[in-house]
Amino acid sequence: MPALVVAGAQWGDEGKGKLVDHLARQAHVVARYQGGHNAGHTVVINDEKFVLHLIPSGVLHEGKLCVIGNGVVIDPACLIEEMDGLINRGVKIGENLLISENAHLIMPYHMALESASESSMGKKAIGTTGRGIGLAYMDKMARTGIRMLDILDPKLFRERLRPALDNANRLLDALYGAPAFELEEVFEKYTGFAERLKKHIGNAGFVLNKALREGRNVLIEGAQGTLLDIDHGTYPYVTSSNASAGGACTGLGIGPTMIDAAMGVVKAYTTRVGNGPFPTELEDELGECLREKGGEYGATTGRPRRCGWLDIVALDHAVRVNGLSGFALTKLDILDGLDTIKVCTAYRLDGVTTREFPPDAATLERCQPVYEELKGWKDSTSGIKKLSDLPVNARKYIEWIEQRLGIGADMISTGQRRDELIIVKENFR
Ligand code: GDP
Ligand code: IMO
Ligand code: MG
Repeated sequence: MPALVVAGAQWGDEGKGKLVDHLARQAHVVARYQGGHNAGHTVVINDEKFVLHLIPSGVLHEGKLCVIGNGVVIDPACLIEEMDGLINRGVKIGENLLISENAHLIMPYHMALESASESSMGKKAIGTTGRGIGLAYMDKMARTGIRMLDILDPKLFRERLRPALDNANRLLDALYGAPAFELEEVFEKYTGFAERLKKHIGNAGFVLNKALREGRNVLIEGAQGTLLDIDHGTYPYVTSSNASAGGACTGLGIGPTMIDAAMGVVKAYTTRVGNGPFPTELEDELGECLREKGGEYGATTGRPRRCGWLDIVALDHAVRVNGLSGFALTKLDILDGLDTIKVCTAYRLDGVTTREFPPDAATLERCQPVYEELKGWKDSTSGIKKLSDLPVNARKYIEWIEQRLGIGADMISTGQRRDELIIVKENFR
């Protein structure tokens, strides 16, 4: 199986980092296709915790080629900081990081514009991570963006930077009365980044296609999740890229016929950071309890994550949008000890029961969850590595989800650590 996509099936933070780290053992190449340093992917090895933002979560296995695809937006200062942080902790990067020359850059004015825009929106703010992600994608689509290859050529860079920066400065001043950026200052800073990164910048699409043609295992890592996808999520409370599996083709420069499988990462309950509708949210003690027990605080911003029950309507949408061939269930251990577990199987909308996930945030906001109650389990599942060792009701919970979604659980995660995992089906050989 040469190419496998791993995508978040909910609102992000499902545990993609941990799963990608596991699958990377059997992969030759690990590639990120979208998003930026809004992502925070955690891998825990023994008692050491790594949080990756831009570099694929395969980097902790020596010798894997890690690719940052053209669909990713890169803040070079953050990327360099991440590289140095890993190197200082003994992780070898060497020649094994390849950054697409077509990837767009996050510029300082993107962050300034986003921060001013979010502040001006008051209660209607998206609740972004404040990393300039949306503004960088805006420039990309407006064809005024700056790509990796642009900063390698000082003359070209200056030519592209001047109109983009002038435009951003005019917007900052006119809309928000915010201070302007100096061209030379930005130019110098980014030319310095280019010097550091240039040996890693190249034709990532070509390299990936070559690897695939040679039959190498390519593991494709998504960031965020399906419900944050710009097209298929809870618009406008979404991120600005195609986080679902479809983004893998355009974000890496590979064709759909190269992708053999798509695995959705599903947390055993639901979380969301930032604003927007969340039908199964628990705004009570139980929600607080899941947050504390699950350590549900953002890996990037530290914000508390909103917590709630599993939502089958939303997951069913994720199965369709991603064409999921299987899923990995994470954080099962966090549900240990509950008498009953509720699962949302439908929504009530204007007096009608529906199993269709609505296309916009305003409609979803009006949906009331319809719950089914399942029996919980008292025994701990923490660290269990064999399916047969799970409490009967935990197994029933998994089987129930499999039946509802019509796909199987390939992996079940029972703890933070790398080895706290049940493998039902190996995706790479
Ligand atoms: P990602 O963005 O999808 O990679 O997920 P994050 O790293 O942002 O958040 C997932 C959090 O849950 C991290 O702190 C992980 O270490 C942790 N985690 C992942 N799987 C499990 C699990 O099965 N059990 C527990 N208790 N924690 C887990
Ligand atoms: P990982 O990859 C969870 C959310 C933000 C906000 C919305 C838009 O770790 O799962 P943005 O800064 O992207 O413009 O913010 O998306 N968001 C995430 N939520 N996990 C993430 O990444 C996220 N990346 C962005 O909180 O609601
Ligand atoms: Mg995360």
